[in-house]
Amino acid sequence: MAAGTGPGGAFAGRRVLLVGVGGIGTAVAERLAAAGARLVGTHHGAGDTAAAVAARLPDGSWAGAVRLDVTDPADVERVAGTGGLAPTLLGGLDTLVVTTGHRHPLRLLTDTDDATVGDILDTELRGPMLLVRAVLPGMLAAGFGRIVVIGSDSGRAGTLGDAVSSAARAGLGGLARSVARETARSDVTINVVSPGPTDTPLLAGMLADDGLTGTVMAGTVRAVPKGRPARTAEVAAAVAHLASADAGFTTGQVLSVSGGLTM
Ligand SMILES: NC(=O)c1ccc[n+]([C@@H]2O[C@H](COP(=O)([O-])OP(=O)(O)OC[C@H]3O[C@@H](n4cnc5c(N)ncnc54)[C@H](O)[C@@H]3O)[C@@H](O)[C@H]2O)c1
Repeated sequence: MAAGTGPGGAFAGRRVLLVGVGGIGTAVAERLAAAGARLVGTHHGAGDTAAAVAARLPDGSWAGAVRLDVTDPADVERVAGTGGLAPTLLGGLDTLVVTTGHRHPLRLLTDTDDATVGDILDTELRGPMLLVRAVLPGMLAAGFGRIVVIGSDSGRAGTLGDAVSSAARAGLGGLARSVARETARSDVTINVVSPGPTDTPLLAGMLADDGLTGTVMAGTVRAVPKGRPARTAEVAAAVAHLASADAGFTTGQVLSVSGGLTM
């Protein structure tokens, strides 16, 4: 077994709430569990693979899957708050990884209705913000915590037809920078990992579209200097670094893992 992996690995004793076990979330679960972490994963609707992923992880690393809708503040508190389901299942909580995203076709802002605007902002900005607020008291009381939110390079560069999501992702940077200041005197950090196109069912579905969505996404993949989408394990590696105990001096950052798409 490689150094830093398994029950005695770099994440031994760590207790992780992983919100969203989709394409990227699955790779995060595998990476952290292989390094010794114990996880609670959340599921919400179609495309979630929490049960299948749990079966592949090392014995003892999966503490359970819980249903969570991040658009519902009471649900967030029920799962992630002090005394909530996740800290109870894990015997505490020192790490939060949020991967929530909204599967939606790209559409010009002028063609986007109020309900869609609200839905995307709730899932990609307000939900992660509520989660961060819910876990912070416990982390600050314990004197240690790692928060990593998955954003998107659309928050840096913008994407044609994705104005609302891009605004939400840019907002995650502001959230991280502000909370990093609020927590700076403790060993609690918060960072954003910002992928470009990443090889997941989400991307495959967008590329298969024969309208604006497929055209824009194919162009975005072509624009990646490294010439291909990220592998989910490459995004998970960045999450693992920022969630590691060693990364305590890195906070309030947005780290692009996009093959140079934005620099
Ligand atoms: N795959 C890519 O090419 C790519 C590129 C850049 C950014 N991202 C972002 O990375 C994140 C993960 O992407 P992915 O490819 O794994 O997508 P995915 O669709 O597989 O995962 C998204 C997860 O969010 C969960 N989710 C959605 N709405 C929720 C809600 N209301 N409450 C709780 N959970 C909810 C889903 O159940 C799913 O587990 C997303 O934010 C996505 O936008 C992905």
